Formats: sequence, C-alpha cells, structure tokens
Amino acid sequence: MFDTTYFPGAKKYWHMGEIYDWDTRLVHVMSHVLHYGSSVFEGIRAYETSRGPAIFRLEDHIDRFFTSAAALNMDVPYTKEEIIEACRLIVRENRLRSAYIRPNLFYSYGNLGLTPKACPVELTIGCWEWGAYLGDEAIATGVHVLLLPWKRFHHTQINASVKLGGLYVQSNIHATYARRMGFDEGIFLNLEGRIAEGPGENIILVKNGIVKTNDKFESILEGITRTTILELARDLGYETEISPITIEEFLNADEVFFTGTAAEVTPITRITDGRDQEKSPDEWEVFTIGDGTPGKITLQLSKLYGEVVRGKHESYDHWLTYVYDSPEEARMALGESPDSMEKERLSRF
Ligand SMILES: Cc1ncc(COP(=O)(O)O)c(C=O)c1O
Repeated sequence: MFDTTYFPGAKKYWHMGEIYDWDTRLVHVMSHVLHYGSSVFEGIRAYETSRGPAIFRLEDHIDRFFTSAAALNMDVPYTKEEIIEACRLIVRENRLRSAYIRPNLFYSYGNLGLTPKACPVELTIGCWEWGAYLGDEAIATGVHVLLLPWKRFHHTQINASVKLGGLYVQSNIHATYARRMGFDEGIFLNLEGRIAEGPGENIILVKNGIVKTNDKFESILEGITRTTILELARDLGYETEISPITIEEFLNADEVFFTGTAAEVTPITRITDGRDQEKSPDEWEVFTIGDGTPGKITLQLSKLYGEVVRGKHESYDHWLTYVYDSPEEARMALGESPDSMEKERLSRF
C-alpha cells in the first residue's frame, strides 16, 4: 500500500491509456528516468466551479509539455488533444472537485547508456487534492524567504522554461536548504547577480503602482501564472513592466509576491540575505517588505486570480477546460449540486 498522506484524494492514475489503482507499481527499477532524471512534467490545477471542476489554462500547460518533451528529444506517444482528454478523465476517475494534476513523460526501461536509444517514452497522469503549496498561512500572511548563495543555472546553458525532471535537482537541493535554515522558501540569483526566481515560483514586485517581473533572459521559467497575473494586472489598469530585477529593487519594493500553479499568488513579506556563507545565519540581514504584511495590489491580484480560476468571471472563461461535459453530469458524478456545494462552502466564511 502506498501512503497517500501527501496525495489526499488520490485513488487512481492514468498510464499509457489505462487507469490503475494508486497502489499499482509499474515502473522497472532499471528505467532510464530513475537514473538520469530523463523526464518532463507539468503541474496543473483544476478548481471547483459552479459547473464542476475546471482545469486552468490546460492547453497552455500541454503546449509547454510538448516544448519540454522536444528539448529531451522525446517522441510523445499521444497527441495534445488525447493528453487533454486524459487529464479530464483522471480528475473524473478520482471524483475530485479540485485537483493538482501531474502529467509525466519519461524514458522507461530499455538501455542504461546516457542516450536512451532503446527506451520507450511513457506517459503517466496522476491527480490529487493539493492545498496551498507554501502552507495555508502563507497566502494570508506572507512568507519569509532566503536569498540563496547559489546561482540558478544560466539560460545560455539550458532553456530554463522547460520542465525537465533532472533540472529540478537544483530546486530540490536549495529549497530543502532554505527550509532547513528555517525559511519558507529560497530565492535564486542568476549568474549576473540579479534576482532570478524561486525553486518552483516566479517573482513579481510592485513599486509605485507598477507591476514588474523579469523574463527568460534572466534565467527563469516564464510561468503560466506569471503571464496570467500580468494580464490581470493590465486589465485592472496597472502598468506592467518586464525587465531585470536587481537585488536593491527587490529589497526596496513596495510589494513582492511569488506566482506559480502550485504557489498561486503568495505574498513575500520578509527577505533574509543569506548570500554571505562566511557569516553565521544569525548575522544575516533581514529586510521587511512594506509594513511586513501582504500588499494591497498583491491581495487584489490574488483575489481576482482566485475568482478567475473558479470561473467567476465570464470574460476569462476561455482559460477554463471543464472536466465534465455538462453541469448535470458533474452533479451526477459528484453526488451533489456543485452549485450548492459552493454556496455551502462560501457560507462558512
Ligand atoms: C522553476 C519554476 N519557476 C516558475 C514556475 C511557475 O510556473 P507556472 O506558473 O507555469 O506554474 C514553476 C512551476 O511550474 C517552476 O518550476
């Protein structure tokens, strides 16, 4: 039995066109991916709406999935439309009202040379209920981050916008370090010594009412949430800017926040400068952003984002892919009117 403590609600997963119980083990230990990280993945969320669960910007995620696969010379064994349908199917199979969806393409069993010449490419899709990535408190009160002493790999070395499993070893090591040192998350600089991004999140700041972020030439993955937030900010009438972020700008911003499918919009309220490894951690300087609480524009964007992903603004409905063909089908499958569920849930606040 596989413990599902960290995969609440997970009952089944999709693998190469079949649905398996969560407890089924299918991958051989000599699979290429286990040794060299030769996989590509996506992180996607589905939110509860009045028409049943809807997957946010699914097409954009699957487009990026194909771009990532091309970077690893993979022949994807399914079309974009088939993968979209499989994502919808696995949320239905798990009877989830909201979900984090994880498609993963990997080189499986064949040979173990560095070039996976005899390894087939396999696709799995799992989903479960994943709450706030940096904790429930994080979105309400903001997080304390650590400026890491290690630099993000450079965009001239590898395209940082592709989600290759092996590349995430850097995120794993340094996100773990930040947490071990008592922080909520780490922040990478790039080789130029400017702000890059978090291990799994982009960074956006607000200064004098301008909403600003960096781009792939600063060695970041240009996230889908980042693009969404920039569009929402413009729609709300804010000026937006894309240019490099210096450390000084970052520390002196009026507001700073993370964006990401997992992290959604998470305010950053304190930053510790941990770059000098000669100093002991209690000598590291701590900076407070604004008054140390989530900023006004951050909260406004976070609220709007939360509403848009839940289908509360018709003008952004083109970003939603409904999991069920009709609200009736959703109601029948989920046992209760999604509408009444939503009302009941909202009435608790
Ligand atoms: C390194 C990195 N940066 C940024 C992001 C945010 O991207 P998105 O908003 O597409 O989830 C992610 C998550 O996918 C990531 O892994």
